Amino acid sequence: MGGVKLQGSERDSDTMRHVIELKQDWKFTRSRCEDAVQAVCDESDWETVDVPHDWAIAGPFDKEHDIDRKVQQGQLDVAEGVREITGRTGALPHAGEGWYRKTVAIPTESRGRHFRLECDGIMSRSTVYCNGEVAGHWPYGYTSFALDLTALIKPGEANVIAVHVNNPPHASRWYPGAGIYRQVRLVELAPLHIDHWGVEITTPEIAEAQGVVRIKTRVVDAAGQDGAVVRTTILEPDGKPVLTEETSLSGVTSIEQSLQVDAPLRWTLENPVQYTVRSEILLGGAVTDSLDTRFGFRTLRFDPLSGFFLNEKPVKMNGVCMHHDLGPLGAAMNVAALRRQLTMLKDMGCNAIRTSHNPPAPELPLLASEMGMLVIDEAFDEWKSGKKKNGYNSLFEGWAEKDLRAMIRRDRNHPSVIMWSIGNEIREQMDPDCAEIARFLVDICHDEDPSRPVTCGLNALRGDHNTIADEVDIPGWNYQPRNYGHFHACYPDKPQYGSETASTVSSRGAYYFPAVDEVMLRRDTLQVNSFDMSYPPWGTAPDVEFQAQDECDFSMGEFVWTGFDYLGETTPYQSEWPSRSSYFGIIDLAGIPKDRFYLYQAKWSGRDVIHLMPHWTWPGMEGQIVQVQCYTNHQSAELFVNGVSQGRKDHYRKHKVLESSYRFHWPLVVYQPGELKVVAYAGDDVVGTKTIVTAGAPAAVELVVDCQDLAADGDDMAFVTARIVDKDGNLCPHADNSLRFDVSGAARIAGLCNGDATSLESFKGTEMKAFNGMCVLYLKSIDGRSGEIHVTCLAQGLVDGVMELRAL
Ligand code: GAL
Repeated sequence: MGGVKLQGSERDSDTMRHVIELKQDWKFTRSRCEDAVQAVCDESDWETVDVPHDWAIAGPFDKEHDIDRKVQQGQLDVAEGVREITGRTGALPHAGEGWYRKTVAIPTESRGRHFRLECDGIMSRSTVYCNGEVAGHWPYGYTSFALDLTALIKPGEANVIAVHVNNPPHASRWYPGAGIYRQVRLVELAPLHIDHWGVEITTPEIAEAQGVVRIKTRVVDAAGQDGAVVRTTILEPDGKPVLTEETSLSGVTSIEQSLQVDAPLRWTLENPVQYTVRSEILLGGAVTDSLDTRFGFRTLRFDPLSGFFLNEKPVKMNGVCMHHDLGPLGAAMNVAALRRQLTMLKDMGCNAIRTSHNPPAPELPLLASEMGMLVIDEAFDEWKSGKKKNGYNSLFEGWAEKDLRAMIRRDRNHPSVIMWSIGNEIREQMDPDCAEIARFLVDICHDEDPSRPVTCGLNALRGDHNTIADEVDIPGWNYQPRNYGHFHACYPDKPQYGSETASTVSSRGAYYFPAVDEVMLRRDTLQVNSFDMSYPPWGTAPDVEFQAQDECDFSMGEFVWTGFDYLGETTPYQSEWPSRSSYFGIIDLAGIPKDRFYLYQAKWSGRDVIHLMPHWTWPGMEGQIVQVQCYTNHQSAELFVNGVSQGRKDHYRKHKVLESSYRFHWPLVVYQPGELKVVAYAGDDVVGTKTIVTAGAPAAVELVVDCQDLAADGDDMAFVTARIVDKDGNLCPHADNSLRFDVSGAARIAGLCNGDATSLESFKGTEMKAFNGMCVLYLKSIDGRSGEIHVTCLAQGLVDGVMELRAL
């Protein structure tokens, strides 16, 4: 519940900083408008929107959006041999221009104050105007940036901030989103204040008895005032101040302090305690600025022979790669939705996120620090050589240094962040000439932060070298489980890990027989078998990577492609419309776990896991052969159909291709309706069972929610899963009934999603079909409105699903 405050405190004195969150009442248009930058502009036909805002997510889906047409080899005529690549970026209208305007009243008393506009990310190529003048420009949509508006703001007047956004087509390999999709705030400051990202905290020595905290503070002293002092206080995790030090600025704008904390509590994955540095600037005894920054005491060790150590304890990275969209919310940042993603991943046993392939929203490392997860912050998917015509290659020359420094300066105080990644599968990686660029980027990272190593996601070696691997501290390998030994032999002094693994594809709840180990098998349904044996030519089933990780003690772990499904990149249906989102996720686009979730949970979580699949409702298939799998971390398991044993499996008898110790497979089971049951054993002791029964006809909609109470702040969310069930409450696994959601009271519908990668129903409507029996409603509170929330879900001929929640 609740929001995440990124910076600063509320106004508690007129001399201090005052943070104005620019959330509500933005005006927005996609039309051309000559006067958009002017103080006065006719906004009568502009929409009113809240920020974070993603203009494209409401759709409509259309295959013409950002379509690629490739003439196939040997064909000269476009009409003859053209191959259309559709859905690559989500088939949503993100490309093109947009305008935002926001009027902010600044009181006369603010005369002489400073104004900084902080943008967490605007997609993309944004130009910001203030009262008709250009205030600044930032092209890369993923970078957070700040603009000094002091000279442009007019106290005592209504000030207009206008933002122009321009997304070229063919600029991304996934859905980028569009517009002011992250938070924006205007910070009013005294002339003497802490610079943007001006507090840098490191913990160079950590021992049981004492921890050294080094704090660099940079100020802006616009008035050149003598006698200013920086007062730094350390607060314990419970908020109690324990140490204070004052240092005179005496003419300089940057100072460094060192404080010793007794018996520091460690930041761990299980107990992620954080301390706070309170930085105050004093002039003549009065505080002119104050900023709280959290940090943690933890050590990182990356060992070429024995992997990764957190606080000197070995930790295998059970990681996932994540793109930035939040399913039906699109790219529009929402803390509750992000927290839900991380909570589910953590529940699976995931302990690390790679922010593929761009700087994340600032809330991601912040939540990871709070929740106890590791983060690799990644900067780029391209350097100078492009993957997409208008991709980052067009910006690299002028912006790479600024973007990389911004990412590190923003995130370097987070205990969760463990490495900086300078790229993913950079096309130049084999080219000897790219050593210079790699060195340039590595040096920037080391310059900004000597405390963390630099990595890059790489594909392969040529001979025994890769130009980027030569330069980075820690090469990451994408899809190379069978080569880790060789790479280790080539780079014996460098720690290594699987920066991208598996790329298994599946559709939640979709099963096809026979289930076989398959590369890129396409089906007319445009769905992928959920038996977790399907992957592209460069990928593998999860089990292959498990084995490689188990065999390679030197490997620090793996980052699965991907934790959640994301919009765009429709492999294996790149050309098959209406496929418009990915199949790679362990969890689907709606946020419902696929079967694979339990395979990773069995391997990673350390908890007892028994998962049985497929469902057991196959009308018309009586007497036919089906396959059954159980994902478990128990030693052996026995399958029963209506009480008749189908055989007991032990881990030492491994299936030929699926070599994991977490998957049991019964390939020849005769389907009979009734009860499918698996019994797990340790030796001869029964340690658990799992049963699925054949479902009857759909009878009702059942609603399940993740929390009962919402904060009435206009940001908080609850996630309500509608399940179509039979009269006994069993999920009807084929149900695709149309569902209508009615919400009244203190919340509104923020999105609907059923996890079907081929659905063209709008995420922003009130109706959606169930996909394999389920659909998720994203419910959002209303700012300042507390009270009851009533949710009804109606489907023709079924008993309504009804639920009550509260906003507090
Ligand atoms: C990788 C790439 C990812 C994604 C993935 C799909 O090669 O780095 O961005 O495209 O393939 O399998």
